[in-house]
Amino acid sequence: MPVVVTGSIATDHLMTFPGRFTEQFVEGQMENVSLSFLVDDLIQHRGGAGANMAYGMALLGLAPVLVGSVGNDFADYDAWLTRHGVDTRDVRWSELKHTARFVCTTDAVNNQIASFYSGAMSEAGQIELAPVCDRVGAPDLVVIGPNDPTAMARHTQECRDRGYPFAADPSQQLAWADGDLIRDLVDGADLLFTNEYESALLMQKTGWDAAEILGRVSTWVTTRAAQGVLVRQRDADPIEVIAVPETKPVEPTGGGDALRAGFIAGRTWGLSLERATQLGSAVATEAVEVVGTQEYELRREPFLERFADAFGADAAAEVAAHLP
Ligand SMILES: Nc1ncnc2c1ncn2[C@@H]1O[C@H](COP(=O)(O)OP(=O)(O)OP(=O)(O)O)[C@@H](O)[C@H]1O
Ligand SMILES: [Mg+2]
Repeated sequence: MPVVVTGSIATDHLMTFPGRFTEQFVEGQMENVSLSFLVDDLIQHRGGAGANMAYGMALLGLAPVLVGSVGNDFADYDAWLTRHGVDTRDVRWSELKHTARFVCTTDAVNNQIASFYSGAMSEAGQIELAPVCDRVGAPDLVVIGPNDPTAMARHTQECRDRGYPFAADPSQQLAWADGDLIRDLVDGADLLFTNEYESALLMQKTGWDAAEILGRVSTWVTTRAAQGVLVRQRDADPIEVIAVPETKPVEPTGGGDALRAGFIAGRTWGLSLERATQLGSAVATEAVEVVGTQEYELRREPFLERFADAFGADAAAEVAAHLP
């Protein structure tokens, strides 16, 4: 049975300006700004949480079904995802808007000027899951990743109505969402994913303490960067899994999405919660050791070797039985 991944699909355009932005600000002219910076570097990355998670799952052989809304500029990105094993047939192409885009310029002292264009993503609320599930079969799990808020609420409701198990992954959308929306996204989830900061924010905004949250979701996974991962369930002892020792983070962005991909793949394979979390941790390490969120690869032998060093030979053998 397939895993359906809903969430943002976007590209990042990152530029570097060798000077300092502030040297071009003119005192007394701040109501009348017209600035242009000659940048010396442009890097483009494929991203968006939904696409990142689907990419990781595809590397693990899961053939995930990606659901989201993109623009007419999506052809190259589509080919990339398809080539890596993501099923993009249910990605919706907007007729009017470009794919969501993050554009950021960083200067020589790390000041940043950035914009986020949500574009086609703002139409994701028009997507219905039923036709997707008619095509691919009743899903094992529907991931509700960060996305247009209307889409997140709609997908969650549809999962409840149709009885599809869902993973709540509101991530950065917790920053602006109000308590009502967050309670609605989380209640009844099979899985809840947060990082440590988001777990505090979620409790603050919903007014629910940890016990109350655990009464409403089956499994709550909290990532803690280098401190590893905490997995909680209502009537079981919490599980703690370490981050892979000697991880050398180059750029931490994308670690969370990769962790989710590994964890969900492990669960889909039928591994124990602890083993699935270890797999998530190992995939996350690969993601944080490269620049970009879909630039890592999972080469079987080195991956398993490192996995065995971190979590033991028996654990590695269980993973090896499923790894492509
Ligand atoms: N410094 C690190 N050392 C080792 N592992 C790390 C490090 N940073 C991140 N990771 C791995 O990535 C996972 C997710 O990281 P983190 O808890 O920072 O999530 P996040 O803040 O949601 O990340 P993202 O920037 O992708 O949204 C961690 O559980 C861990 O496995
Ligand atoms: Mg995150």
